[in-house]
Amino acid sequence: MTGDPRLVVISNRVAVPKARGAAGAQGGLAGALHAALKDRKGLWFGWSGEESESGRTGHIDTQTSDGVTTATLDLSQRDIDEYYNGYANSTLWPLFHDRLDLAEYERETAKGYERVNERFAELGAPLIDAEDIVWVHDYHLIPLGERLRSRGLKNRIGFFLHIPWPATRMFVSLPYHERLVRTLLFYDVVGFQTQEWLESFLHYCENELRAEVDKASGTVTFEGRTTIARAYPIGIDWEHFSKLGENGEARQAQQRLISSTRRRIAMIGVDRLDYSKGIPERIDGIGRFFDKNPESIRDLVFIQIAPPSREDVGSYQEIRAALEQKCGQINGARSEVDMVPIRYVNRGYSHAELFGFFRGAKIGLVTPLRDGMNLVAKEYVAAQDPEDPGVLILSRFAGAAAQLKDAVLVNPHSPDDIAHAIRIALDMPLDERKRRYEKMIATVRDDNVQNWTRDFLRDLSEA
Ligand code: F6P
Repeated sequence: MTGDPRLVVISNRVAVPKARGAAGAQGGLAGALHAALKDRKGLWFGWSGEESESGRTGHIDTQTSDGVTTATLDLSQRDIDEYYNGYANSTLWPLFHDRLDLAEYERETAKGYERVNERFAELGAPLIDAEDIVWVHDYHLIPLGERLRSRGLKNRIGFFLHIPWPATRMFVSLPYHERLVRTLLFYDVVGFQTQEWLESFLHYCENELRAEVDKASGTVTFEGRTTIARAYPIGIDWEHFSKLGENGEARQAQQRLISSTRRRIAMIGVDRLDYSKGIPERIDGIGRFFDKNPESIRDLVFIQIAPPSREDVGSYQEIRAALEQKCGQINGARSEVDMVPIRYVNRGYSHAELFGFFRGAKIGLVTPLRDGMNLVAKEYVAAQDPEDPGVLILSRFAGAAAQLKDAVLVNPHSPDDIAHAIRIALDMPLDERKRRYEKMIATVRDDNVQNWTRDFLRDLSEA
């Protein structure tokens, strides 16, 4: 888009094609930001995913591809331990996903978080020109806007949170919670995935910070500065994703799934291996379904794709072990020599292959206990055959549930509820499946990532 100011995106993770660290870039954020940047001559700055001391010397790796320039820094092992594994993923992530039982409050990791945010500001500020629009992403970098301002940056700077914002009663358990929110109010625009997370944030601002909150205009005024705070639900790159069906790789993947399951109905789950995704609870629900419907065991197969994530964090090692045990237990008890009810796969697949698997699976299970949005739910819908669509079973606690109301909504904590939803999905007549699909596909198509970017950047330009 010529005439627009240059967009500078800053996030912890950067999807650098063919670069060191790219293999680790999973999750919806990296894909969405790549889509947001590809139409603009943008700059994307963040961590390479690599460990080395070179970031300390100010070394930045730069490369340009498809009009997007990426600039990445390495982090030292201490930085990774304290900032990424520590404060971001052992304090903020569990707290923001309502897992107070897993949240660790360590002074050292909090200091490491501040230090790395300062490092991002020190190395990022010289890359930003006076006219650029700056867009910072996610919980790793909440204080970055304030750090950039302290270096004299006058640019418009926005922030988007990809995960939920917790209820005030949970959030106040974080030591120095007020300090974190004060730094957020140095941004011109702060965006959330849903109205619910936005309202939790505004509740905190009004009741704990005693800021002036105007819900009608979506603004928070505090110490002379006004910040726009609104919900901008993220979507998929519809243009790109919906065309994957024409791709040979997708068709092959679909065929592979269908021929390997023979006449059995395939159900699928695809998640980073994370406790917030509710995978063991999902397996319990499937176990409950088999308990209640033993005659169906030969007719169904559940495929769970779960690439490991944040493997140095203890709670992630525990969830992996628990899941392996659970799958082993159900398969041990229910398999026959020629049939296994659960296929549990610890690797990632390309977007095209996932499209094929989603299309081949008649039921998609997306049952997180808490999730900012969840783009897998939207991708599952986008991959369906309009003439014979599958059924999406979706957690009511995923941000996506506010938009995909025609999914079969479930309480992911209840095995009975999940088992019941599987029954409903299996019995659902074609005309009802089509009716639900048509409503959901309209949302998935219209609320796409391009419109998300457009809406956020429009508010940021006008702020
Ligand atoms: O969407 C939430 C998020 O934490 C992103 O910020 C991140 O890129 C993605 O999940 C994957 O997690 P990680 O970068 O820790 O592998």
